[in-house]
Amino acid sequence: MTVLQNIGQLATCAAGSTQQDAGLINDAALVFEDGKIVWTGSAEQLPDSFTSHDSVDCHQKLVIPGLIDCHTHLCFGGWRGDEFEMRLQGHSYQEIAAAGGGIRSTVASTRSDTLGQLKEKALETLKGMLDLGVTSVECKSGYGLEQATELKQLQVYHQLDEQQPVDLVPTFLGAHMVPEEYQQNREDYIRLLCNELIPVIAKQKLALFCDVFVEKGAFKLAEAKQILETARRYGLGLKVHADQLSNGGGAHLAAKLNAVSAEHLEYADKRGISAMADAGTVAVSLPLASLYLREPYMRAREMIAAGVKVAVATDFNPGSAPSYHLPLAMTLACINQQMTPQEVLMGATTIAARAILAEHRVGSLLPGFDADIAIIDAPSVNHWLYHFRANACEAVIKSGHWQRKLN
Ligand code: NIG
Ligand code: FE
Repeated sequence: MTVLQNIGQLATCAAGSTQQDAGLINDAALVFEDGKIVWTGSAEQLPDSFTSHDSVDCHQKLVIPGLIDCHTHLCFGGWRGDEFEMRLQGHSYQEIAAAGGGIRSTVASTRSDTLGQLKEKALETLKGMLDLGVTSVECKSGYGLEQATELKQLQVYHQLDEQQPVDLVPTFLGAHMVPEEYQQNREDYIRLLCNELIPVIAKQKLALFCDVFVEKGAFKLAEAKQILETARRYGLGLKVHADQLSNGGGAHLAAKLNAVSAEHLEYADKRGISAMADAGTVAVSLPLASLYLREPYMRAREMIAAGVKVAVATDFNPGSAPSYHLPLAMTLACINQQMTPQEVLMGATTIAARAILAEHRVGSLLPGFDADIAIIDAPSVNHWLYHFRANACEAVIKSGHWQRKLN
């Protein structure tokens, strides 16, 4: 049993009816044992029976649940720094994609890299994420667009989940784009997804979710519906890359299919937002993609006012969001989405947990939850996200094990 004492501020991030209240307790203590939280509360109320145990002085720092990055494209071959420069010179993301760059260029590199190469690269990223206090990561395939490479990406996730501490939650994104070789017969690619890939992936339990990129140049609404309904029949949870670059009705489709989450939503309209509120579909905001593409940010205030829960994630990928810095995404969500620091923290903990269907296990510091904890060098949530630093995370505990100790 370990007791964290002298916590300046503790954010329990208990799931509540609103996103506004991160359950802050000043001058707090926390007890964990066998990988689970046993007790959290005000230091004054810490029961005497706990005080004799292994105790760690937190020096008045901030203690939060391990962060959850609920939308990443973690595994990919190569990088696309050349496109970064092209965009700075005025070429748009869509223009570059139409000229054969973008997702297709990463597909070529991911097909040619070995599983070992992809795994080593993703492992480095995960180490960097853990250092920032991230303890769970959703990770998508979608850079294979053929059976062997889609399975290779999902195998990387499966193996890394067992070989390093961060929890990985895999999503099948075979419907990221129609691959080059199916340009003239896209129906055949959709048949391949529905009749072969989804059944194989479901049978081998290689993914928990299925995602579709609904956009001009990617998949149409009717195609997405067919793919997602198939995935649901095979027991996968549903996610949608919706309304990122234009309003294509993706948010509305996600809600109608009872998707767990819809992501991006920069161009979502009122009808989509209100359908998401009715369905309880989580809105995953991805401020780093808006930053890098110089696109509008998700209108989080409108979402929250309509009753939609808003998560914050990185979208880490080699094109639209080549940074895995979740705390940076969180500060951007404050500044550009006008979310309060507490709302943003909820969005990267308990609401992100809901977006991966794990809200009863992770994302809150309450008795019974996994002891996934980050200790931040700041006196409060507000100060942490306001006084942004390269890495303010001082220590990380995953399932009760110290991954980085306090100095
Ligand atoms: O979420 N929008 C689609 N997919 C990714 C970008 C992928 C890429 O550019 O490689 C995204 O932004
Ligand atoms: Fe994405």
